[in-house]
Amino acid sequence: MAAKTRIEKQGPVAHLILDDADEKLNTLGKAMIGEMAAQVAALKADASVQAVVIRSAKASGFLAGANLVELQALSASNDPVKDGYEAAKAGQALMNAIEDLGKPTVAAVHGPALGGGCEVTLACTARVAALDSAKIGLPEVQLGILPGFGGSYRLPRLLTHATALPLILNSTNLDARRAFKAGLVDDVCPAQRLPEVAQALALELLKPGVRERLAAARGAKQPLLNRLLELAKGLVFSRARQGVLAKTHGAYPASLKVLELVQAHTPDRAASLEREAHGLGELLATDVSRNLVRLFFLGQDAKKQAGGVKGAAVARVTVLGAGFMGSGIAIPLVTKAKLPTALKESNLEVLGKALKKIRDHLGKSVAKRRLTPTEAARQFNLLSPGAESTDLARTDLVIEAVPEILDLKHKVFAELEDKVPVTAILASNTSTLPITDIAAPARHPERFVGMHFFSPAEVMPLVEVIPGARTSPQAVATVVELALKMGKIPVVVKDSPGFLVNRILLPYILEAVQLVDEGVPVDKVERAALGFGMPVGPLKLIGEVGVPVIQHVFSILQKHYSDHLPQPVWFRKAEFPDAFVRDAAGKLRVQATLIEGWVAKPDPGYPDADVQDRLFLVMLNEGARALAEGLVPEPGLLDLAMIYGTGFPPYRGGLLREADRRGLAACRDRLQALSAGAPWLKPSAGLVAAALKGSYY
Ligand code: NAI
Repeated sequence: MAAKTRIEKQGPVAHLILDDADEKLNTLGKAMIGEMAAQVAALKADASVQAVVIRSAKASGFLAGANLVELQALSASNDPVKDGYEAAKAGQALMNAIEDLGKPTVAAVHGPALGGGCEVTLACTARVAALDSAKIGLPEVQLGILPGFGGSYRLPRLLTHATALPLILNSTNLDARRAFKAGLVDDVCPAQRLPEVAQALALELLKPGVRERLAAARGAKQPLLNRLLELAKGLVFSRARQGVLAKTHGAYPASLKVLELVQAHTPDRAASLEREAHGLGELLATDVSRNLVRLFFLGQDAKKQAGGVKGAAVARVTVLGAGFMGSGIAIPLVTKAKLPTALKESNLEVLGKALKKIRDHLGKSVAKRRLTPTEAARQFNLLSPGAESTDLARTDLVIEAVPEILDLKHKVFAELEDKVPVTAILASNTSTLPITDIAAPARHPERFVGMHFFSPAEVMPLVEVIPGARTSPQAVATVVELALKMGKIPVVVKDSPGFLVNRILLPYILEAVQLVDEGVPVDKVERAALGFGMPVGPLKLIGEVGVPVIQHVFSILQKHYSDHLPQPVWFRKAEFPDAFVRDAAGKLRVQATLIEGWVAKPDPGYPDADVQDRLFLVMLNEGARALAEGLVPEPGLLDLAMIYGTGFPPYRGGLLREADRRGLAACRDRLQALSAGAPWLKPSAGLVAAALKGSYY
């Protein structure tokens, strides 16, 4: 194995340089920990070394967190509680050795210093971060675990509990400016000056009083309230606990464990770290952390869906139609992908509203200090709005988001085809029209591809990428790459009615309406879904997505899948009324008078478990069909799509993962039983076959 670290001396300062020759990115795996520990011991023993800088020679950054492949292996071991504890102890020993070096240490950070990477910096005397690239934080909770290399102990001590806890609980990563403001780093500079600034700071730290001055400066950065709250920490914890419970309903053990641990920590380092190591072991053994780590890997797999084909370079984009979706799509194009974007909208009033929406979005980021006003202005200026696009000849990719009418889509694409370069990719945000049909009249159908965003497009991470019958692999690759640049999760899906996610989600929404139709109280249905972990109840979702949109998707799916779709009477009506209203007490109720001919039935008193199972299993049944039809090649991609397209609870690991946990045969039998009065719930052939095989994973 090649070396992962080396030492370069500059006068009395030794630079411990992280440069894993085997990897593109430094991670804190077992081997790296071992090597760093040996180097630190040597530096301690070397009398010629008076101070140490820790930095990375990798362009990709300082040190990303723990090695997740190793972490996954730990959680799959026979005794994850013990193995996790031991791994934590090894990491902690390294951090302690850095802290106990007896010589000033400076961490110089560019790019990510996350998780274990951040914990290395916390063990140092001082920290410097590169502007424009540094990303520092403890995002372990997002993986269902906790900072196990001393982070849960050191961060609150460095920054106060009121500042540190939300950073850990929300897995917040700070850029250099925000880290400086929070006191997490002591200085910032451009990346190319990092070694020299760190060297100067290390020399400075050799002078008496400098260490104390830095600590005082850090302390002064803490808001007065947070400093006062150090005297009433109980308050900080109870508020944080309330926040966690409200957000997660207790489904994520890591957040609660972090609160418990940090509250129990005392200045006694050894005892605190011991507790932390046990905490890590316990969490590694949970299904929740296994599911969340797996989700991380599924996200990595999603990046490889173009099968090695390289996408075309995209330097300019045109969005056609700045309505609800087009305006939302433009936001990540300018804020994340940072691409010049022409926004073409024939209705000037709509265009004005779209620009306001984008401006407000940027304004919020400025208010939250995620963006400086100058950066926000620069991003807004990437837009060129207009009723006519003057820039088509230079556009590399068009995203069409005009109304869902096939003739209209044909018309706008026909007008475009001659104006854009022959190499330009033409993407449609259609939610229901087959891409093959949209591309049918085109002279170059190979460049047509579906790019299906979910509403609201500026928020929902999923993008379904849909190749038509003649779409080129390069068009697919281009759209996959663009979606990633926009900070989205692309999932390539076969061109099939409703594509993947709407096809699975709609039966769930219909099932909810069907349950109400059978007399189940609206709140009971909503509670069942929320209790399962869905972010909003299905009936509220109807209001959010919009009745016409749902009705439209229903009408399409109905043509193809009527044999197994619930048929609640309301959806069969030509006009589905806005039937759900909140009463004075804030409860959702059916506004029965709006539904012609509908008479509220008495509550059948179904057990809660039946209601929840019908909602979950109807999705599973459809998911099993979709997978059997090959809409996506692997169960993992279906799970990924459901989590990022519908908010399916991440801690459950996805629709099929959850089915595996319950047992596929048990799911099949339960559906069979529930289908007694609801024939559309009969287990699908796909599910029956999967149950015979045993499991999806
Ligand atoms: P919308 O009606 O809000 O926006 C469409 C806009 O296109 C309108 O403002 C219209 O003036 C404009 N337009 C029409 N012809 C044009 C032309 N030739 N040039 C420029 N602009 C033109 O509709 P929405 O909801 O944004 O839907 C757009 C597309 O996105 C549809 O294909 C829809 O199926 C799809 N979609 C919608 C979702 C939703 O939840 N609303 C979710 C995912 C996809």
